[in-house]
Amino acid sequence: MSKDFKRYTVTSALPYANGPVHIGHLAGVYVPADIYVRYLRLTGKDVLFIGGSDEHGVPITLRAKKEGVTPQQIVDKYHKMIGDSFKELGISFDIYSRTSAKIHHETSSEFFGKLYNNGKFEEKVSEQYFDVEANQFLADRYIVGTCPHCNNENAYGDQCENCGSTLSPAELINPHSTLSGGKPILKQTKHWYLPLDKYEPWLREWILGGHKEWKPNVYGQCKSWIEQGLQPRAVTRDLDWGVPVPLPDAEGKVLYVWFDAPIGYISSTKDYFIGKNGKAEGWEKYWKDSDTKLVHFIGKDNIVFHCIIFPSMLKAHGDYIFPENVPANEFLNLEGNKISTSRNWAVWLHEYLEDFKGKADVLRYVLCANAPETKDNDFTWKDFQARNNNELVAIFGNFINRAVVLTHKYFEGKVPDAGTLEGIDMELIEKINEIPNKISTSIETYRFREALSFVMELARLGNKYLADTEPWKLIKTNEARVKTILNLSLQISANLAVATTPFLPFTSCKLFGLLNVEMMNWSNLGNINLLERGHQINQGELLFEKIEDEAIEAQILKLQNAKAENEKLKVAVAPAKAEVTYDDFTKLDIRVATIIEAEKVAKTKKLLKLKLNTGLDERIVVSGIAEHYDPKDIIGRKVCLLANLAPRDIKGIMSQGMILMAEGSDGKLSFVAPADGGDNGGVVC
Ligand code: 2FM
Ligand code: ZN
Repeated sequence: MSKDFKRYTVTSALPYANGPVHIGHLAGVYVPADIYVRYLRLTGKDVLFIGGSDEHGVPITLRAKKEGVTPQQIVDKYHKMIGDSFKELGISFDIYSRTSAKIHHETSSEFFGKLYNNGKFEEKVSEQYFDVEANQFLADRYIVGTCPHCNNENAYGDQCENCGSTLSPAELINPHSTLSGGKPILKQTKHWYLPLDKYEPWLREWILGGHKEWKPNVYGQCKSWIEQGLQPRAVTRDLDWGVPVPLPDAEGKVLYVWFDAPIGYISSTKDYFIGKNGKAEGWEKYWKDSDTKLVHFIGKDNIVFHCIIFPSMLKAHGDYIFPENVPANEFLNLEGNKISTSRNWAVWLHEYLEDFKGKADVLRYVLCANAPETKDNDFTWKDFQARNNNELVAIFGNFINRAVVLTHKYFEGKVPDAGTLEGIDMELIEKINEIPNKISTSIETYRFREALSFVMELARLGNKYLADTEPWKLIKTNEARVKTILNLSLQISANLAVATTPFLPFTSCKLFGLLNVEMMNWSNLGNINLLERGHQINQGELLFEKIEDEAIEAQILKLQNAKAENEKLKVAVAPAKAEVTYDDFTKLDIRVATIIEAEKVAKTKKLLKLKLNTGLDERIVVSGIAEHYDPKDIIGRKVCLLANLAPRDIKGIMSQGMILMAEGSDGKLSFVAPADGGDNGGVVC
């Protein structure tokens, strides 16, 4: 028998504040979490819904570096952007906090401190890459080298983005630091490890024995992690962005982002109470009372952190409850391809809200109806349009509109008397009676798609009832019958207003307004006497409108453009190089020169032998441009020459310098030359 809990702590994965959120995040985490908490609130439960930004970690520092701003500026920007767009989508967090907040630093420091003081960590010294010039240890992402699997020269220390292999920095061929460009050395460093192996027996019992009801994808992943054998995990890093390790000999070290982020749920709870009452008091029962049900909504890539690592941290601490469930979803793809932030293959929430004003519920509907609950699913714009036009408009909207319009037309907008019910009415009521339980059971077992399909079943029943009974044909001959039909239709409409509250909160609100009643709680669902006889309803405004082909085509075009841009970028944008000083730059002697002779280098495809007038002298330079220029076409061309490059023997020819070329997005090389002539020997500065 399932336990009756006094209160609920519901968390949703804290998104990294280094970019906007997209439909994959929404379908995987935020839409289902919001449906769940809205439902709980409607059933009168005490529930705290936690969200916030995950503001630490290496990618944020990399992004800041790339944009030439501080990590704090990056997270400030995206914390606001993400928070605003969640609000506009109706994600009803009780608190949207952030991990750069003081309360979070304090909470995670204390948490670490307690584990440290209780001897829960193992200290280990290991060798890690260190950039001597930048005088800092290098996070895996700060090391680039050649992938041992596919030879991509720009593979990161943790992953090759070309072939997708997971790597460790030691596997990279020719590793170099992205900070200085230099070859990193291995240097000893101390870190603190959570010995997950020690928690294995407990995890086995708690999850594999005690939580067989978890979704198969979640349970399966946990089982495979546990059965592979768990290893101690470092919970600190050498980095200057994050929560400082609160120990005397730990300068330059911070808590690992995956150690502090889930503690963010706890600090957010405190933040909620501070915002409400001016002090954190009150937070503890949401985390320490066994009458509290803790549920984490996450995507499948976060399973190990929420089911294995965070619970082990909580166990090590000793004061906390454990999650009752972690209903992780699979991934949502977009038009047949994996969503990719870096390749801009995504539907961004803030852009959707801009392009489809007032249609937050349509997105909520489509993402729930198509949620990747048991397997990866695909979002397509055509499906989005079809679900809006054929389901929301043609079934739900059409039913409500007909019920409301006919009531105004025949009965001045007053709810008619139900009169005497006939067989078809009774059958309808019987079916309606089954629906509330079906929706509740589905929501409580995290089957939100199924729950939504039952809500739509209610709309379908109403729509079919009107189509079958045709009150517009009966009005002249049997007004009493029409009254019954419209009374029942309006009662179904009121039921729909209740049933849609968790799923389509804006629509539900409009519908209550249309019916001219206050919002009702869940216990009213299934009642077919929600509207009293004679109750005045309001004039109809349409709940949904058709989405035309043009709007969909514009979105498809946007994606095609992103794809095309991306193809170009693949060639055009080489990764940024390490910083150089002005002094480094002035060492380069770059000068204007003119090509006076050019010929192919025998037995090569790419090389031309050029004779240049440099203003200082005439000299030979071998250049790899034979595939781009015909020798006869370039005599007399002005070029820029790196004149003080050490001479090199190339195919038996001593080359004295290097011609500067610019690479186009299609890989074509073209000369870099002074825009307005320039004299031989002129210095490029
Ligand atoms: O995967 C992510 O986007 C992480 N930022 C989720 C963190 S969830 C929690 F632990 F904070
Ligand atoms: Zn590779």
